[in-house]
Amino acid sequence: MQIYLDTANIDQIREGAKLGIISGVTTNPSLVSQEGTADYEAVVREICSIIPGPISVEVLVEGVEPMIEQAQLISSWAPNIVIKIPATSDGLEATSALAKEKIKVNFTLCFSLNQALLGALAGATYVSLFVGRLDDIGHDGMEVVKDIVEVFAHYKLATEVIAASIRHPEHCVAAAKAGAHIATVPYKVLMQMLQHPLTDVGVARFIGDWQGVSRK
Ligand code: G3P
Repeated sequence: MQIYLDTANIDQIREGAKLGIISGVTTNPSLVSQEGTADYEAVVREICSIIPGPISVEVLVEGVEPMIEQAQLISSWAPNIVIKIPATSDGLEATSALAKEKIKVNFTLCFSLNQALLGALAGATYVSLFVGRLDDIGHDGMEVVKDIVEVFAHYKLATEVIAASIRHPEHCVAAAKAGAHIATVPYKVLMQMLQHPLTDVGVARFIGDWQGVSRK
């Protein structure tokens, strides 16, 4: 399972990149709006210059033609951009058209197997299933991820499944067990994935024991 960062924060992306395990970044208009700038293009271009992998960038308009036109514009900003298109009827039509133009689409705001299946049939490169938001309303988001992975494998669909709206490290464990191709995680959750109190205790003990001997 690949790990993407789910953020538009440049500092977090730079810090994450140093670890050498970040394969891509997903953003959305809410995340970019938190960065205190109205210059969408500048933020996107900077992210694309830090991480060479796929960078998902969402359209900011509704309607088939406006989405297609904006997707064409945004994808001209950098070669590694993937366009996020919402799982609506207009979004599906736009996804089909963009896929024919070889523009990569992340079919986003998916909450069901049916939405994901339609996105894959339209030629989306990725589908994003929002696990945390499904959990929020009493569903089991990761069960849906598991079902999508199984169905895509059964029908040999090349579309990759992104477990999105990840809220805590246990979501990452469950996404990996469900067979998600990618989990896109907030920076805080990425750091939590690495933490274990026994590792900290172990490091302190190893260093302490060695210092004890080397001082003799
Ligand atoms: O990748 C989608 C993600 O940004 C949504 O997360 O926490 O707003 O549901 P959240």
